[in-house]
Amino acid sequence: MPILIVYDSIFGNTGQIARAMADELNTTHQTRLASVQEARDIDLGGLDLLIVGSPTRGFRPPPEIQEFASRPDLSGRAATFDTRIDLDTIEPAPLRWVVQAGGYAAERLARELSEQGCTIVGEPAGFVVTGQEGPLKPGEAERAAQWARSLVEAVPETGVG
Ligand SMILES: Cc1cc2nc3c(=O)[nH]c(=O)nc-3n(C[C@H](O)[C@H](O)[C@H](O)COP(=O)(O)O)c2cc1C
Repeated sequence: MPILIVYDSIFGNTGQIARAMADELNTTHQTRLASVQEARDIDLGGLDLLIVGSPTRGFRPPPEIQEFASRPDLSGRAATFDTRIDLDTIEPAPLRWVVQAGGYAAERLARELSEQGCTIVGEPAGFVVTGQEGPLKPGEAERAAQWARSLVEAVPETGVG
């Protein structure tokens, strides 16, 4: 069951989350981890699961990963995640509502992938950083590994690849 995890990351936190997922899935599945730049040259055919993640910036994914999510050769099962700021750290407090209401990258990526013909598995997931540049909130890497595990448990093996 070949899995590809593609991520964008400016300060490295989303990269850490993606790595935690890859380390978890690698124990049972053929899993490749690629930055969005590396993914440009990767053939997306024959995957059993594609996982796409990015930071949330201005309520949406950064341009490079949005570009990836609109590739015409996307198909098959896909799941999305993002990193986002811990709402409790935002001051003044009313701004928290604005950030939450603005939305997050994972939902937008899922919508885009779905429009390209992918079947979205699992719920888009958000993992939290405690400052704009990080670090990740304690326990988020472990939660990411569990989320990734839950995806493959939900996806039947096809024997492809
Ligand atoms: C310019 C900018 C815009 C941001 N916009 C949002 C946002 O709309 N919502 C949010 O929850 N976090 C926002 N953040 C926090 C980012 O999500 C955080 O920097 C990111 O998760 C770090 O991931 P990375 O280390 O992989 O780049 C923003 C950060 C920056 C620098």
